[in-house]
Formats: sequence, C-alpha cells, structure tokens
Amino acid sequence: MSTATIPLLDAVTQFISRPKKMLIDGKWVEAQSGKTFPTYDPATGEVITQIAEGDKSDIDLAVAAARRAFESGPWPRLTPSERGKLVWKLADLIEQHLEEFAELESLDNGKPVAVARVADVPLAVDLFRYMAGWATKIEGNTIPISVPYTPGANYLAYTVREPIGVVGQIIPWNFPLLMAAWKLGPALATGCTVVLKPAEQTPLSALRLGELICEAGFPDGVVNIVPGYGETAGAALAAHPQVDKVAFTGSTEVGKLIVNAASGNLKKVSLELGGKSPSIVLPDADLETSIPGVANAIFFNHGQCCCAGSRLYVEKPLFDKVVSGVADYAKAIKVGPGLDLSTQMGPLVSEEQHQRVLGYIQEGFAEGAKAAVGGHRIGDKGYFVEPTVLVDTTSTMKVVQEEIFGPVVCAEPFTDLDEVVRKANDNIYGLAAAVWTKDLSKAHRIASALRAGTVWINCHNIFDAALPFGGYKQSGWGREMGHEALELYTEVKAVCANL
Ligand code: NAI
Ligand code: MG
Repeated sequence: MSTATIPLLDAVTQFISRPKKMLIDGKWVEAQSGKTFPTYDPATGEVITQIAEGDKSDIDLAVAAARRAFESGPWPRLTPSERGKLVWKLADLIEQHLEEFAELESLDNGKPVAVARVADVPLAVDLFRYMAGWATKIEGNTIPISVPYTPGANYLAYTVREPIGVVGQIIPWNFPLLMAAWKLGPALATGCTVVLKPAEQTPLSALRLGELICEAGFPDGVVNIVPGYGETAGAALAAHPQVDKVAFTGSTEVGKLIVNAASGNLKKVSLELGGKSPSIVLPDADLETSIPGVANAIFFNHGQCCCAGSRLYVEKPLFDKVVSGVADYAKAIKVGPGLDLSTQMGPLVSEEQHQRVLGYIQEGFAEGAKAAVGGHRIGDKGYFVEPTVLVDTTSTMKVVQEEIFGPVVCAEPFTDLDEVVRKANDNIYGLAAAVWTKDLSKAHRIASALRAGTVWINCHNIFDAALPFGGYKQSGWGREMGHEALELYTEVKAVCANL
C-alpha cells in the first residue's frame, strides 16, 4: 500500500484550522451546549478537527430561522429568475473551488481525490445548474371543469405549485457534497427553506458549502446547516412540528425511524435508502466491457453506494470466466489513502463501517461462502478492506440478502432468464439493477421485469441531474433529481373562480 499523499491546498488547511461552527440564520455560531465532536481521517483513524455539535436546541433555532425566512424576508419575494440565479451562482462558486472540495471529500470520507475531482464535485455543480434552470419552470395547469350541480356557471380553474415550506434534510457520508446538492438543489429551486444535517462522519464539505451559500448571497435563514449526531440533532429535526417535510438518505433502519418521527405533525417524507442491486451477465455479453463493468459496479466508492452492484448473477457457461476476471480486476485495484493520486480505492469511512463490513464477510464464511479473492482487512492502520468476491453463496445467506455497504460482491450462476429475474427480485430492496448483454430484446425484457428504480443496460453508476433516482420496495419513497424531485418539494393548490 502506497502512502505518498499530495500536500493539501492552503485554502484547505486554512479552512480546517478555522473553528467549525454551525450556520444558523446567516451566522456562524457555536452549539448552544458548547459541545464539539471529532471528525476522523479514515486513512489513519486520526482526528482531523472538532466540529460544533448541534442537538435539539440548535435544531429549534435553525428551524425558527428557516420558518422566518420562508414566511417573511426577501426569499419569498424573489422572482423565480432571481432564485434561479442564486442557485446558478452557487454552482459557479463550487466549480471555482473544485480542487478544495475534492481534497475535503478525500480527507473526510477517504475516497480517492482523483475520483472526487471528476465525479463528486462536477456532479454537484451540474445538479445545482440543472435545478437553477427549473426555478422559472415550475408551472401549474388550467383545468376545464364541468360541475354537475351548477348548470350554466362558468369557472376559471387552475393549479399552482407552491413551495412546501421548511424542509429538514438529513444526509449520509458516502458522497457528502453530492448528497447535500441532491437535497438542496430542488428545495432552493422551488423556494423552500432548509435545515441540513450532514453526517457526523463527514461534516467538512457541507460546512465549506455553507460558506459559499453565504458568499452567493442567499438571504439569511434560507439554508441552515447543523452538524451533529443522528440520534440527537437528526431525530429532533425529523420530529420537529415546524418542519413541513423531511428528506432523508441513509439506512432503511433509520428511514423507518424517520417515518415514525414525522408522524407527529404528518410532515411529508422522502427517503432514499438501502439497496442490494443485482448485476446480471448474459452469455452474449461483451466480456471486455462487462467484467470491468460489474467489478466497478461494486468496487466504485469502495462499495459504499446505495446502488452498488453487490449481487453478481452470471449465466452458467460464463460463470468461472467472469468470476476469475472480476477477481483479477479486484487484485489489481490499488488500495491506499484517498489523497495519494495513484489510489483507486481508499479506506472505508469509519471504524464502525470497517467492523460492520468485516463482520459480514466473517458471517458469510460461517454460512459456507468462500472468497474467490479478498476477505480481509489491509494493514493495521486506517479502515482498509480488500476488494472481495464471494462464491458458493445461496440466496438465504445474510451476505446475499443484506446491504453490506463495502467492497464485497456475492457471485452466483443461473441457468435461465426466469430464474435470474426471480433471484434478482428476491430482496427487500429495489433501488437499481444492471444487465450486461448484446441482445437488445432480452435487455429490455429484463429491464421491464426487474422491480428497481433504475435499470442500467451495459453500464452501471451512470448518474445525471436530469435522471430520476430512487427506490422500489424498502429502498425508499420518492425520487431524487429530475423533475420528479421537484414534486416532492411543492404543494399543489387548486384555485377555482366563478366567472
Ligand atoms: P444512518 O442511516 O444511521 O445515517 C445516515 C444519516 O442519518 C446520518 O446523517 C445520521 O446522523 C442520521 N441519523 C442516524 N440516526 C438517526 C435518527 N434516529 N434520526 C434522524 N437521523 C438519524 O447510516 P449509518 O449508520 O451511517 O450507516 C449504516 C448503514 O446504512 C450502512 O452500512 C449502509 O448499509 C446504510 N447507508 C445507506 C446509505 C445510502 O446511500 N442509502 C448511506 C449511508 C448508509
Ligand atoms: Mg447509524
């Protein structure tokens, strides 16, 4: 494992050395309690810096600020065009600070800086630009009505889409900046105000984003950022009676807690949760692209993707060839610190995730699975795990049924299409799936039969701000991105005038 890391930009070291406060009502403030919590470098396990630790009292202040900003003040009086311009300006500012964000993501999350430069940060920029364009296009309809009990009357009836109000947004650590963008983009385009709680493992990029939100000129209180733990700050936000909607990305387990917490005032809920996405390889697949394709599907971001291709189904005649191809690919992956430019796979995000992923691998072995490659920790410092391919798995094993959220794929052979569709759908999740084949007809037949929010054909992990993303079954409620996301941030008002 190489350890030659790049020197951090001055802007990054300066940012890290500034006190990490929370953004409430346009001001950077300490936690009411005065408490702080550490954020760690996953490549070394060492503390990077301390962060103001928000809890219920800080959430109360942030929600009050968001309420004020929603109801009075400049924000609701801005024209859609002015709102769109602010969102666009934020995109420009992020782009101007691309390298800084890439380094912060790498430092805090562990991902390769080279990946953050070309994926996380540009995707966040694109998302804000896409949503900025929508600010001026959130339209209602005129509706011809025929009321049976008012003969001869004339009505003008129309709908308007209005912002839903104050939105609580709780995000995970796997793509810290991008998850903030997916959440903030549609909220700001539609005219909502926000309290954002970043994940406790990776608060840095959201706090830097907060500085740029202030620089872009968003009115005070439109975006409030309260770092802290899920059980305290997150739970208070999800339960808050003055919050109109909560948007959450994370575990299915916590998604269910969010739904319960939201029931107090029946706030609207959108959820982007776990997955156990199948990669299906048919016998006519082009193996030169399919083998790296299915390998990347699981090993990209160290398997810490809700849509990771964590179950690999290969038609029997090709099974050994594909598995050994993926195993060779896994062996060749350069694992190391994210800030080393040659690193292809970094450490997992935290000690907790490290234990969790290694625990799943051990449970797989105990249930009879074998490792075609990998299966162990790498080194004794930082949270590194070998890219792992498990074989001899069966559909009832925990490693096949549950989300591992690490670089671990379970490979199984199949004999016919009905069987693989049944296996692929045999899971509580339905987030994504991929089919690798040259047979167009089979590809689309399988796409239609899969119960998943996204189906990729001869690709995986292809994201675009215009493409809706979200889950069937226990993978969630609602969609991120695309115009579908905007519907979750608006209420429809029907207006009916008797002419
Ligand atoms: P988590 O669901 O606990 O955390 C996600 C976010 O929810 C964080 O901001 C956290 O502070 C917050 N949170 C936690 N408990 C909360 C509560 N009671 N009320 C309100 N907010 C709360 O996920 P965690 O513990 O980081 O990871 C555990 C597993 O979750 C992973 O192994 C993976 O399987 C899954 N996960 C899925 C993600 C996805 O993209 N769908 C992202 C992160 C984790
Ligand atoms: Mg948790």
